[in-house]
Amino acid sequence: MPLAVRRIAHSTPDYDAMVALRRAILRTPLGLDFTAEQLTTEAGDIHLAAFAGEDLIGTVVLTPYKADTFKLRQMAVADSHRGQSIGAQLLTAAEETARTEGATRIILAARVTARDFYARHGYIVEGDEYTEVTIPHVTMAKLLV
Ligand SMILES: CC(C)(COP(=O)(O)OP(=O)(O)OC[C@H]1O[C@@H](n2cnc3c(N)ncnc32)[C@H](O)[C@@H]1OP(=O)(O)O)[C@@H](O)C(=O)NCCC(=O)NCCS
Repeated sequence: MPLAVRRIAHSTPDYDAMVALRRAILRTPLGLDFTAEQLTTEAGDIHLAAFAGEDLIGTVVLTPYKADTFKLRQMAVADSHRGQSIGAQLLTAAEETARTEGATRIILAARVTARDFYARHGYIVEGDEYTEVTIPHVTMAKLLV
């Protein structure tokens, strides 16, 4: 099945499908959920989704952070599609989008379990580990040159 990565508008059925996948992978296993305010606030973000045919199987979000920097958030690939470079393609699409928007840097809060994934794609750890959504995270960044 060919993979397509598309930009998704907030408050659309595709956005709702993105939130459902994000919730299932990134929040429900931790006993958490998004608040209505969190979802409203990200109306100004850039939402990218990966599709296998009609099925939405991956997500990533870019949030404006500083004039030259986006924060990359909510990277998630459906369990059934892991290890097929879909995460890598989402990351590349996010970086291309950030560049197009004029950014020179991406920053992210990596789950420690995903640190090696980001490191393989050129992200560098900045500072010490900390706890976010109940689990260990580390800040990582990459210059878009
Ligand atoms: C992190 C995540 C997005 C990566 O997505 P993915 O589509 O599996 O990523 P890729 O296939 O591009 O890369 C996964 C790496 O693990 C390897 N791998 C092999 N089998 C794998 C498997 N069954 N599952 C996952 N990774 C596997 C891949 O070969 C690849 O290694 P490489 O980069 O050296 O080639 C995905 O694992 C995920 O959604 N995890 C849960 C949510 C999460 O932690 N998100 C990050 C929050 S900061």
